[in-house]
Amino acid sequence: MRLLPANPPPGPTEESFWQSPIRGPWMTSILGSLLLPFVVLVGFTGFMSHAAYNPDLGMNQVVPRDGDLDLLLFDWPTGPTWLYALNQGLHTIVGIMVVPLILAKLWSVFPKLFAWPPVKSPAHALERVSLLLLVGGAGFMWATGLLNSQNYYPWNFNFVVAHYYGAWAFLGALFVHVATKFTTLRTAYAERGVLKPLMDDVAHTEAEPYRKGGLAPEVPEAPTISRRGLLGLVGATSAGLFVVTAGQSIGGPLRSVALLAPRGRGAGGGAQGFPVNKTARLAGITPAKVGPGYRLTLTGGSGQALTREQLTAMPQHTEELPIACVEGWSSTQTWTGVRLKDLAAMAGLGAGQGLQVISLQEKGAFRQTTLSHDQVMNEKSLLALQVGGEALSMDHGFPARIIVPAQPGVHNTKWVTELKVVDV
Ligand code: HEM
Repeated sequence: MRLLPANPPPGPTEESFWQSPIRGPWMTSILGSLLLPFVVLVGFTGFMSHAAYNPDLGMNQVVPRDGDLDLLLFDWPTGPTWLYALNQGLHTIVGIMVVPLILAKLWSVFPKLFAWPPVKSPAHALERVSLLLLVGGAGFMWATGLLNSQNYYPWNFNFVVAHYYGAWAFLGALFVHVATKFTTLRTAYAERGVLKPLMDDVAHTEAEPYRKGGLAPEVPEAPTISRRGLLGLVGATSAGLFVVTAGQSIGGPLRSVALLAPRGRGAGGGAQGFPVNKTARLAGITPAKVGPGYRLTLTGGSGQALTREQLTAMPQHTEELPIACVEGWSSTQTWTGVRLKDLAAMAGLGAGQGLQVISLQEKGAFRQTTLSHDQVMNEKSLLALQVGGEALSMDHGFPARIIVPAQPGVHNTKWVTELKVVDV
């Protein structure tokens, strides 16, 4: 018994409905080939960011860990100092720049959404489910990522957990997709050449040969844009997105036009010339808590409590280090303070041990973080008391904050009140 009519109902399910002369397997193949390296780069830097949190230390993990998908975990290095800034800059900037290419790729295959009959065989049904995961996954990953880069969380789930598991599902579906479409791609390039169709201007643009069930149009319209025109348009849109985004990581004159970077431009609301993600008020830090009664407790061998004056009386060191946020912005600042390794020595840090850093912060995530042995022992790792030659502002973590080279900004804990030796 047939559930659906053999012939498609009138409208988009009919092949003759789709008439763009530049749509076809070659067009989809070139868009897919251009897209692949960027998507792989965004995926790779995403997993590297996950590793940069050192989620296997203390309570650093945001994603509940059963370890099964943490294939790419390793001890995140402390150098080069700009490593995390580069990683997150690439993740967010390339992620945003690639959007026009994804949209063009989806435009190129849009008629397939209406293909008739919707399901031809069990194998076809399976492929369609994987496509649902691919297209839905792309939509989910990019929507959540873009909103997160705008510091906007209009949902009830944990962004990091959803974005992490979503990435595995999306990349799995992408792998299946590229594998199943590889023959189409090879044939398209073999028949038409990899770049040859880009030679034609609008007047010489001809449709790819029609094949039933394929993407080339049955009844092509006259061309209004060439294939290279379409790629140029996509490229120009991506370049435009680069201009309004990249300044948040690259800095320089581009910073002032980083319109898509809410915290990336200029001071970003921060009194000391670089962005503040969490203000003292939001974290529940009052002047009383950081006043004369403030103490830094070193918990370990001897156990001591230091006033801010005692901290300033210790040997001070100055380092130029970037602070780089998971949302993509970064800013290199001059930090002055006490070396973490000096404080760790006072607390009795031994081999195989790191420091748990505890903040005065009452509200919000990351009230504490655990630093690895290498992070603590790095010469550049500081408990910073000053930035840019002046005492930290309240919003930047007064009386004291962590700054460790190459680590995600959110782990550079502000308003530090305790350093505790822990096994790592
Ligand atoms: C965000 C990533 C991607 C999405 C959302 C996506 C989506 C799609 C969809 C929905 C189809 C139609 C499938 C069908 O119903 O038959 C398709 C076809 C295709 N895709 Fe992708 N794709 C992506 C990435 C890629 C990449 C990276 C490549 C190549 C390296 C690629 C190459 C192809 C090819 C060759 C076809 C077949 C075109 C034809 O049937 O003539 N795709 N894609």
